[in-house]
Amino acid sequence: METRWIRLQKGNTDLKAIREAGEIIRRGGLVAFPTETVYGLGGDALNPASSNKIYAAKGRPSDNPLIVHICRWEDLPPIVKEIPPQAKALADAFWPGPLTMIFQKSDLVPKETTGGLSTVAVRYPDHKQALEFIKAAGGYIAAPSANTSGRPSPTEGKYVYEDLSGKIEMLLDDGLVSIGLESTIVDLTEEIPVILRPGYITEEMLQRVLGEVCADPTILHVAADAAPKAPGMKYRHYAPKGDLTIVTGQMETVVSKVNALSGQAMEQGVKVGIIGTDETISSYQADVKKSVGKRTDEAAIARRLYQILREFDDENVQLIYSEAFDDTGIGQAIMNRLLKAAGHKVLTVT
Ligand code: TXA
Ligand code: MG
Repeated sequence: METRWIRLQKGNTDLKAIREAGEIIRRGGLVAFPTETVYGLGGDALNPASSNKIYAAKGRPSDNPLIVHICRWEDLPPIVKEIPPQAKALADAFWPGPLTMIFQKSDLVPKETTGGLSTVAVRYPDHKQALEFIKAAGGYIAAPSANTSGRPSPTEGKYVYEDLSGKIEMLLDDGLVSIGLESTIVDLTEEIPVILRPGYITEEMLQRVLGEVCADPTILHVAADAAPKAPGMKYRHYAPKGDLTIVTGQMETVVSKVNALSGQAMEQGVKVGIIGTDETISSYQADVKKSVGKRTDEAAIARRLYQILREFDDENVQLIYSEAFDDTGIGQAIMNRLLKAAGHKVLTVT
């Protein structure tokens, strides 16, 4: 299959291309599209065959449910059993936006889309072209992130093309996304809402609307006896090809420890990469050094993280050291993804 790579004008809705993309979905085909978080690999959420195609294109286990994307609040009731009052409150505050909510599903949603679960994840993205596309496709797009399973989620069209060329009919490319990490997922089927995946909508923001909310304990820690509730979070995700370790401690000590480790590895001919910040990057010695941005600019760090992991892959970096980041606010999402990428390998220096 030849993948048509359509470059949308940034912010400018190319309705002709988007209508064609909608047609492809209605016929049961797959189209990758931009959202404000990361690119999605879209198919018709109400068509079991489309969901099966998504799993195949992504190389993803079919017990890992997909998120259903909608473009209007009115499209929510038909796909869920009930709408708890908390969902209405969250939607008023954060939809359209980078928040996914889990509901009991209605019979309209096939079990292929939900990985066999009786619940469904729903998201109403805040992205003009994505909304036009969902509308053109009939209103319900199932979409995981548009990466091959196990690779970092794509923040740019070229990464989608790299992973999915030949496996999808069309790619709608809108350049670099604005957020760069996947949506926050909140489970509303529990008495107290549970954050299954942290994101740009932070725990504090959710608390302000819900009063009480709890976070899945596996978000920042590996718990031997606790399995994460979002099936996708159990897989080793966001994995760079290089072996990644997070180094934490007082910044000067971190820099000297990383330089010592990096020096040893380079002597043995290993290609070393470092993830630092604008404040520290010039103090490191390694084959490849990349700054995620200013330490205080969490939004910039979120947008840059996956891109850096992909760049290290392209440059065949074998060993990666990263600084740790503050784990409050958006930092909770940043550290959640970084810890997963590192397989929870953390070196604490004193
Ligand atoms: O920002 C995003 O959410 C992006 C864009 C494309 O919208 N999508 C995304 O999808 O990140 P994906 O498939 O890569 O991640 C979806 C996560 C998985 O961890 C999955 O297990 C979880 O959501 N999930 C989906 N449905 C669920 C359900 N019914 N119950 C619990 N977890 C669910
Ligand atoms: Mg994903």
